[in-house]
Amino acid sequence: MTATDKYAVFGNPIKHSKSPQIHRAFAQETQQQLSYRAHKVDVDKFADAAKSFFDNGGKGLNITVPFKIDAYNFADELSGRARLAGAVNTLALQEDGKIYGDNTDGAGLVRDICENLGWEVTNKRVLLLGAGGAIRGVLEPLMKLNPSHVLIANRTVEKAQKLARDFSEFGSVGACSFKALNANQYDLIINGTSASLAGELPPLPSDALTDEGCCYDMMYSAEPTPFMRWGAESAAWAVSDGLGMLVEQAAESFCIWRGTRPTTRAVIDAIREELEACN
Ligand code: ATR
Repeated sequence: MTATDKYAVFGNPIKHSKSPQIHRAFAQETQQQLSYRAHKVDVDKFADAAKSFFDNGGKGLNITVPFKIDAYNFADELSGRARLAGAVNTLALQEDGKIYGDNTDGAGLVRDICENLGWEVTNKRVLLLGAGGAIRGVLEPLMKLNPSHVLIANRTVEKAQKLARDFSEFGSVGACSFKALNANQYDLIINGTSASLAGELPPLPSDALTDEGCCYDMMYSAEPTPFMRWGAESAAWAVSDGLGMLVEQAAESFCIWRGTRPTTRAVIDAIREELEACN
């Protein structure tokens, strides 16, 4: 181990990334000597930038939009969950010099929902909105909690159908378009579309939630997202954004790199306070 091991997050854009703040807080708490920086990487230069980072003594990378598939292709070895996600958000230099690729997004979501929020998934009916990389990345860890049924609803129904086929071995999973969402109700609805980014809301029937139904938006922001507002208007029992998921996926990456798990509560609270102060 060098005196200060080097870590970074690669993305584009990267200016608003909270990862440096999160990992520096983890390092302080666990008394680990490391540096962590954010790098904006040109969209067609991921492999060159990652190679140069590791050639120059880098120990590990977080990968964010739009490079998670490039990172999947860059890794010498992949975890099972990265293989299933088809994407990598964590790269780690191993002792043999090979680069290990993992995906901690799903674990982060599950940890936030089950541990931080205390919501039940086992035997519950789950509705997932969207069928892009974000949803693919969380399907396996979610389905391993044994929900009674998972329905994937997406604007482009074929993408939802493909995901349902790909993950059918993990439990009961179906697919439909938003228009085909009918009178069924769900205990947990998770928004994994990028609609919130544009201030939009996937079209949902107003009675899609059970009485104790919860809404989780994988996005986070200072203000409630349109989906979170829909949840509140639909009398959801609880509503959350994805800030906890962000911090938990980081904790899981930190654990892969450093072999020690940081606590997350104080970091989640600190970022929440900052978001609210900017508001
Ligand atoms: P990510 O990696 O973040 O999942 P993505 O793979 O581009 O990004 O997927 C974005 C998801 O958001 C898709 O499910 C997309 O629906 P389509 O597959 O039909 O394109 C969904 N999405 C984006 N904007 C949306 C909107 N305004 N309403 C509903 N769904 C939307």
